[in-house]
Amino acid sequence: MNIFLSGYGKMGHMIQEFAVARGWSVIGHADIDCPENYETAPKADVCIDFSGVGAQKALAAYIRRTKTPLLSGTTGLTEPDFDVLRDLSKEVPIIWTANYSTGVAVLKKLLREYAPVLRDWDKEIVELHHNQKVDAPSGTAKQLLQAIDPDGTALVVHGREGMCGKRKENEIGVFSLRGGTVAGEHTVSFFGEDECLEFTHKAQSRRVFAAGAVRAAEALADKPAGFYTLEELIF
Ligand SMILES: NC(=O)c1ccc[n+]([C@@H]2O[C@H](COP(=O)([O-])OP(=O)(O)OC[C@H]3O[C@@H](n4cnc5c(N)ncnc54)[C@H](O)[C@@H]3O)[C@@H](O)[C@H]2O)c1
Repeated sequence: MNIFLSGYGKMGHMIQEFAVARGWSVIGHADIDCPENYETAPKADVCIDFSGVGAQKALAAYIRRTKTPLLSGTTGLTEPDFDVLRDLSKEVPIIWTANYSTGVAVLKKLLREYAPVLRDWDKEIVELHHNQKVDAPSGTAKQLLQAIDPDGTALVVHGREGMCGKRKENEIGVFSLRGGTVAGEHTVSFFGEDECLEFTHKAQSRRVFAAGAVRAAEALADKPAGFYTLEELIF
């Protein structure tokens, strides 16, 4: 397989390391200092994107021009960005997820299955990331929220301070901690009467995301056009 890297930062370099170890070739990359590569790079078996929100327009143009399958892990995207990805998925296979670790894929499945059983319990999400992360809450926290509140009816709060009143029945707190070099930790807590259930996923290094992305890219490359979830590709 050959790949084109969109974004050549920490994740881009790690993806390259994993891909080369599997015998793939990297045909090139685009980044802030070489955006013209989006316009000139040829079709690849797959494009792997871990860049920034500002790259989305040029990236979409590259995918549209070359019809290269796209795996993206860039977080902080807005609904219009997802509209563009959904539109592109009519022409090529696409996967976007905020977290390529197998553990989080399993956690989302568990939450979707069991959160309805705990519908009357209070729920809160806490995420912890390194001090260089630019968006909050994390894309993974948003996906976990979606798993426990699929209809989006909860009142989501991102901070409590002062006389904020009692916790509302449909409230879900989503809180972001930032510090050091933490690769990513997420805890979803369910509070019932006299009992509490917590699910925690800890990424001990970024390598889990890079390895997961490379595995998913391998599964994606031969798929027909469509928008895939990680669960569809790896379970
Ligand atoms: N989905 C996952 O599993 C997962 C895991 C880790 C990180 N991420 C996300 O991946 C992204 C990259 O993470 P990272 O740790 O490699 O960050 P990084 O800052 O090390 O690398 C990002 C790279 O993208 C480039 N970039 C930014 N804006 C660009 C633009 N407009 N055009 C071209 N290139 C641009 C930067 O110059 C940089 O080289 C972030 O959004 C991060 O949250 C996702």
